[in-house]
Amino acid sequence: MMSDAIEYLMDMWPLSTGTEDHLTSHHLLLRDSVRNEAFQEAIRRIVKPGDLVLDVGAGTGILSAFAIQAGAQHVYLVESEDTLSCARQIFERAGWLERATFIRGMADRVTFQGGKVDAILIELIGNFGIDENILDVIPTIRKKALKKGGKIIPSRLRLFVVPIMEESLERELGVYRSVRHGIDFSPLAPLADNNVYLLNFRNARLLAEPQRLAEFDFLTCEGDTIESRVNFSIKQRGRMIGFVGWFEIDLCEGISLSNLPNVNRTHWDQIIFPIGETQAVEKGDRVSFRFRYRTTAGEEEWAWSGTIQTRAGNRRFDLCNGDRFLLPKVRTRHTIELRIAN
Ligand SMILES: C[S@@+](CC[C@H](N)C(=O)[O-])C[C@H]1O[C@@H](n2cnc3c(N)ncnc32)[C@H](O)[C@@H]1O
Repeated sequence: MMSDAIEYLMDMWPLSTGTEDHLTSHHLLLRDSVRNEAFQEAIRRIVKPGDLVLDVGAGTGILSAFAIQAGAQHVYLVESEDTLSCARQIFERAGWLERATFIRGMADRVTFQGGKVDAILIELIGNFGIDENILDVIPTIRKKALKKGGKIIPSRLRLFVVPIMEESLERELGVYRSVRHGIDFSPLAPLADNNVYLLNFRNARLLAEPQRLAEFDFLTCEGDTIESRVNFSIKQRGRMIGFVGWFEIDLCEGISLSNLPNVNRTHWDQIIFPIGETQAVEKGDRVSFRFRYRTTAGEEEWAWSGTIQTRAGNRRFDLCNGDRFLLPKVRTRHTIELRIAN
């Protein structure tokens, strides 16, 4: 079957190091034609002939190439990894080297002199929108490099969450609450719960109406923190395993991309915020979700908490991906004295 062959190919990652290794993660982006065509069309509409364009996290240079196609006079590609050499090869083959400057480094640490650009392209969009540190990078780079009246693609980001039921995920997370091979693995449950997970949902049951958790306008946003709370009314009976989160970005007026669960057509997965033990819920039950996010110097902190109000009583959950739940690093040397039986 055709779909099996594609799945199989996706498992064949090259065993390589260096540039090819980084190229592996860009393979997912390059084959995502929904994403690529949306960016190409948005860039065609926004970038004007003669424009100067800055590409933040340029990767293989695909967005800069779209800007050149749209008539940009010059593109500045900033990329922290080796992939920049792939971008250079693509530009060389296309005969565009004179219209491009390649800068290897962290975009927020680059100094700009002389002038500013007409447009910034920035696809630091993670599976939950914010998880490639875009909130930290955007305000710095916008102030340093964007002309007054300049454009950013994408221009807006919205985050959504909803309580969810999904049996395969319940089974997976259930490993940490089970006795297997005569061994109780439940001491690991707090470690498993205090984590976010990625999954591409195909048949998940959304147990309530999705709620917008946060929204950012990249031309004006300042903060690198989120503190938000949303409420849900359960609309059908189910076994709630947590919340699923996704994003929507506006690339320009009329062109948006989203990784909405069950209908996702892009390479992005959805993110799962567990609640610990599965919770049986009924129509009319009330659920709240509070989300706190902070990013400083590339370090992210995520915390989610809330209440589930059912007829049987109320339950609270309070989880995070903080250090306190990471496995301790063992650095000391030990001597083991064996007890030798007589
Ligand atoms: C999701 S990829 C997008 C690549 C390319 N723009 C595209 O659309 O295919 C993000 C890229 O940004 C780079 N990156 C992440 N943070 C960066 C930063 N602060 N400065 C420069 N590059 C960064 C990563 O190495 C990665 O190649």
